[in-house]
Amino acid sequence: MRASLKHLIYLLIFLTFIFIGCETLRSSKPIVPIREYERMLVGRLDADYVGTETCLSACHYHDKIKRDFDSSTMGAQVIAKTGLPLVNCESCHGPGSLAIKGITPEKVKEDARRGIRTKCNYETLIDIKSLPAPAKSLICLKCHTANATFNLHNWNAGPHAINDVTCIDCHNVHKGPDLIVRKNDLANMCERCHQEIKAAFSLISHHPVPERKIYCTDCHNPHGSGNEKMLRRPTVKQTCTRCHAEKEGPFIFEHAENTEDCLTCHRPHGSVNNNLLTVRLPFLCLQCHSVHRTSATSSIEGKATFNTRCTDCHSQIHGSDLPSTSGKGRFIQ
Ligand code: HEC
Ligand code: HEC
Ligand code: HEC
Ligand code: HEC
Ligand code: HEC
Ligand code: HEC
Ligand code: HEC
Ligand code: HEC
Ligand code: HEC
Repeated sequence: MRASLKHLIYLLIFLTFIFIGCETLRSSKPIVPIREYERMLVGRLDADYVGTETCLSACHYHDKIKRDFDSSTMGAQVIAKTGLPLVNCESCHGPGSLAIKGITPEKVKEDARRGIRTKCNYETLIDIKSLPAPAKSLICLKCHTANATFNLHNWNAGPHAINDVTCIDCHNVHKGPDLIVRKNDLANMCERCHQEIKAAFSLISHHPVPERKIYCTDCHNPHGSGNEKMLRRPTVKQTCTRCHAEKEGPFIFEHAENTEDCLTCHRPHGSVNNNLLTVRLPFLCLQCHSVHRTSATSSIEGKATFNTRCTDCHSQIHGSDLPSTSGKGRFIQ
């Protein structure tokens, strides 16, 4: 009996700590279960769905938005037999009956005569702007599930979702009839938030992203990928050799395990050094090797190659199938 009382007291102390812990967690960052987010997206419970036509027929102020939307892939999903979910204004903005209550064509005309633009009561719609980030994304995810949109398989665990970046930070559903992300929009889309990456691409040596020869999405999947840094391929090397296949090997003479990670020597985006090198030649090499004397240069030991680009002679620095004159792999040819 005494023992179990003691246990009970321990348990109480333990629980108190847990609750105190939760309290601080909650105040620093509220943990709202998915169901709460879902509730935020239902809209006012006293409102009904009225359909796009009813919603918009009275005032016609959103004609352009509607026209664009109707001819977009999403807006075109109105044919029941496609089996795709119907997407209309209320799918995202919530039920609209309260917003248009009392608005008749007569009232709109009367207002217009008095110089007033009739407003619907949009405060009864879902206040998308003020939703917490995961709820904003859930507006889209309720249809774009990982199964429906395969690309989104890794969304929830991805660094963007975790850092409160939402679908609508990148996708503007009212930008026009074309919702497909065009490659040319990409640089701006990403650089808005990634200023330091933008800066890297303006260095002397850089991947031709500003020149629009390759794109952020060639290497990254902005929806998350399950790989480090949202890379499309499992490793950095695989990411690079997709385009630089000749560096892939295997070579008879490999540069140790170095070329397993191209980033030992290269920066992925841009660098102040030629060839995207992390460190200028010969200092790059001198991080791991010492200078040496060769018969081809001066005989002053230790100074011979110091001012030379090592790759003038070791030109096959990534690996080679041919030995040097001594029969060793020294990446000379
Ligand atoms: C796929 C979801 C979705 C659908 C469908 C949708 N909207 Fe929107 N709408 C949004 C989002 C997201 C915003 C931006 C919210 C914000 O940041 O204020 C928005 C904003 C708006 C705005 C504010 C003005 C603007 O351009 O930002 C209007 C007006 C609007 N929508 C009207 C409509 C109408 C009319 C329809 C139907 C033809 C419609 N929406 C369909 C998601 C949607
Ligand atoms: C009511 C369901 C529904 C909602 C909500 C919804 N979508 Fe869609 N969306 C669709 C359907 C259906 C398609 C067309 C089929 C497809 O591409 O999967 C589509 C297509 C798209 C496309 C591709 C367009 C193309 O031309 O390939 C984008 C981008 C898109 N939606 C973004 C969004 C964003 C962003 C949101 C949230 C603001 C959102 N969707 C909310 C159903 C929805
Ligand atoms: C960081 C920016 C970013 C975020 C956040 C983002 N997307 Fe995308 N999305 C893109 C880009 C870029 C593409 C172009 C295709 C590609 O290269 O992956 C795309 C493509 C798509 C497509 C296919 C249409 C096309 O152009 O091929 C759909 C559907 C889509 N996104 C839905 C979503 C939804 C839903 C969310 C939120 C859960 C979301 N996206 C979040 C950038 C983003
Ligand atoms: C609305 C702001 C925003 C936009 C737009 C945006 N990002 Fe991000 N991105 C972030 C934030 C926040 C993080 C997480 C913090 C960080 O690493 O800087 C992040 C992280 C990343 C990471 C690093 C992931 C990791 O594991 O560390 C990559 C890669 C990335 N973003 C690529 C992109 C690409 C590509 C685009 C354009 C399609 C893009 N981002 C657009 C805000 C944004
Ligand atoms: C040639 C492939 C390639 C291209 C193109 C590319 N990246 Fe990267 N990016 C990488 C690699 C590889 C890494 C991983 C770096 C590491 O692990 O240190 C990376 C890392 C990042 C990170 C994380 C930075 C950090 O220090 O953690 C961000 C953010 C990012 N890239 C954004 C972008 C954006 C935005 C673009 C387009 C403007 C872009 N990348 C274009 C290959 C690329
Ligand atoms: C989508 C294709 C693509 C991918 C992936 C890619 N590259 Fe490149 N890379 C290019 C192109 C295009 C150039 C420019 C070639 C030119 O201008 O002749 C280039 C140039 C280079 C250069 C020479 C830069 C200079 O200043 O001349 C280096 C070094 C390089 N890439 C390394 C890498 C590394 C490391 C990776 C992996 C992080 C990588 N590349 C991934 C396409 C790619
Ligand atoms: C040990 C350092 C080192 C490693 C690791 C390395 N590189 Fe290089 N890379 C260099 C040097 C040095 C140059 C410049 C060669 C020169 O001066 O001619 C270069 C040049 C390049 C170039 C541009 C010139 C050319 O030969 O096409 C590309 C592309 C490249 N590397 C890709 C890669 C890839 C992909 C990887 C990973 C598989 C990688 N590098 C790993 C040192 C390295
Ligand atoms: C990150 C460290 C590192 C960097 C940077 C590096 N190497 Fe190496 N290198 C090695 C290792 C480790 C070996 C394998 C050593 C061994 O097998 O004895 C090697 C092997 C070599 C060999 C063959 C040596 C032998 O005994 O067969 C040559 C030649 C060489 N490196 C040249 C260079 C040059 C030139 C550069 C600059 C472009 C460079 N290395 C950059 C680590 C590095
Ligand atoms: C003038 C041409 C030349 C230059 C420049 C040069 N090397 Fe060499 N290097 C050689 C030759 C030739 C050998 C011997 C090849 C053989 O085994 O037959 C060699 C061998 C090596 C070896 C393996 C033998 C040893 O000493 O351990 C390494 C490591 C090496 N060089 C690194 C470098 C580095 C680092 C630089 C730049 C600081 C550099 N080399 C510059 C021609 C050169």
